[in-house]
Amino acid sequence: MKIAWWVVWVGLLLVVKIEGGRVRHYKFDVEYMIKKPDCLEHVVMGINGKFPGPTIRAQVGDTLHIALTNKLSTEGTVIHWHGIRQVGTPWADGTAAISQCAINPGETFHYRFKVDKAGTYFYHGHYGMQRAAGLYGSLIVDLAKGEKEPFHYDGEFNLLLSDLWHTSSHEQEVGLSSNPFRWIGEPQSVLINGRGQFNCSLAAKFINTSLPQCQLKGGEECAPQILHVDPNHTYRIRISSTTSLASLNFAISNHKVTVVEADGNYVEPFTVDDIDIYSGESYSVLLTTDQDPTKNYWLSVGVRARKPPIPQQVLTALTLLNYKNISASVFPASPPPVTPRWDDFERSKAFTKKIIANKMMTPQPPRYSHRRIVLLNTQNKIQGFIKWAINNVSLSLPTTPYLGSMKFKLNNTFDRTPPPENFPSDYDIFNPPVNVNATTGNGVYVFRLKEVVDVILQNANQLTGKGSEIHPWHLHGHDFWVLGYGEGKFKAGEDEKRFNLTHAPLRNTAVIFPYGWTALRFKADNPGVWAFHCHIEPHLHMGMGVIFAEALHKVRNIPSQALACGLTAINARH
Ligand code: C2O
Ligand code: CU
Repeated sequence: MKIAWWVVWVGLLLVVKIEGGRVRHYKFDVEYMIKKPDCLEHVVMGINGKFPGPTIRAQVGDTLHIALTNKLSTEGTVIHWHGIRQVGTPWADGTAAISQCAINPGETFHYRFKVDKAGTYFYHGHYGMQRAAGLYGSLIVDLAKGEKEPFHYDGEFNLLLSDLWHTSSHEQEVGLSSNPFRWIGEPQSVLINGRGQFNCSLAAKFINTSLPQCQLKGGEECAPQILHVDPNHTYRIRISSTTSLASLNFAISNHKVTVVEADGNYVEPFTVDDIDIYSGESYSVLLTTDQDPTKNYWLSVGVRARKPPIPQQVLTALTLLNYKNISASVFPASPPPVTPRWDDFERSKAFTKKIIANKMMTPQPPRYSHRRIVLLNTQNKIQGFIKWAINNVSLSLPTTPYLGSMKFKLNNTFDRTPPPENFPSDYDIFNPPVNVNATTGNGVYVFRLKEVVDVILQNANQLTGKGSEIHPWHLHGHDFWVLGYGEGKFKAGEDEKRFNLTHAPLRNTAVIFPYGWTALRFKADNPGVWAFHCHIEPHLHMGMGVIFAEALHKVRNIPSQALACGLTAINARH
């Protein structure tokens, strides 16, 4: 052995330098708790006694190590780190039946993964409807030390938006899987950082009501978190939406905001009065406090895109923008911003289309794709049960998680026939389906490593009557470029000519508008098995998703804990 000791040392130092970052340890105990998120008591899922769960904050290059203990007495759990691509750690994606086995009551699972891109992210349950039960929290990744954002700000706020029902997620789940079908209805409250005020969201009521929950005293757990600001400063407001259902609109009276980040990617900055945010999306906006500093202003988050149960009563969450030089108890002189009409989809589209890439900061999409998959979104019936289907297949997850069963090439774990890559060309997207019957399935779209894939999401008419709704689609393991949005049925030759190949924004969530299509492009460069689904919790539960897989031969070191169920439990031990 003639290798000098200093060679070894220099080698080790280099590894440490290249690896960079530090390991951040978190201990998460998941349990049911009684809380008052909207001033009324509910059972919610929380972490370490908190609802929402603790905010994780890290720097680019760090490794997160989260030891997740399931303290629920009778059900499994997992947590998905929404927006984190899990490069090299597909088993840490936190999707039950896809990337891992659900963690049993009493057991601890160790998530270890690297955060490689700065941005505003969040985490949430990904088993059954546990996200709807309140299992979520924020995950923020800052730039590495010494690096600077391409915009200036003096301070920042983080707002995690969600919606709350007064029925339990179990009751909702049973209703959705029943015949006759029971829809969950619209939420009872919208929450900002887990706080809302049931039935007193309108400003007038907020001030003068006799409802006990609206007489907020300081320190109440449902009291809104007020944004205290100095005049003439610029603040970064991080906003993410983990709603079960609601499409939201965010506005601050008298102030404009400048959008600078979407889903952890820089966008070409643009200034607007309000922003639309769909479930699964996140934004950073810059706010300059240049208004009359002797007043306070409303910050409102209102529901859009679905018909409100009581017309003219838009469900809203409110808090205050407080100019620090005056008291936060001074109520704003003017009413809160009015949420744009729920069905003004032209306005929604106009906002969404403003989001384009910042050319200097965002990689460009590949010029061509190798493969195109067209996914028709329809409501269907399977043996009388109402479902959502993609190209007529409604997703029902297998008992053995895909990652292990594909890695170890197990048989009989899921449908081997690849799911359809298109739908019949004579399908009329403007009318209810002629044949409502679909099938359930759990087949996989398999991609070659580095294959460039175009996905066209095609919206259609609902099951009965006239109508088509918005669906925010979220991809695990990747960001995709949004190449365009269009009306009606996608026409290959014609529509692809209008793809935006120069300023396509990179995102992990994109909506399809009523009766429209959305075109996405991504590179299958992340070995693993990844869910791609509508982020509306009840829709996913009703089968609105597909499974992508790529380069399983490159997947290494799946921890045995992720394999401890189904056929992997027996087969993958050796
Ligand atoms: Cu935030 Cu698969 O979801
Ligand atoms: Cu949907």
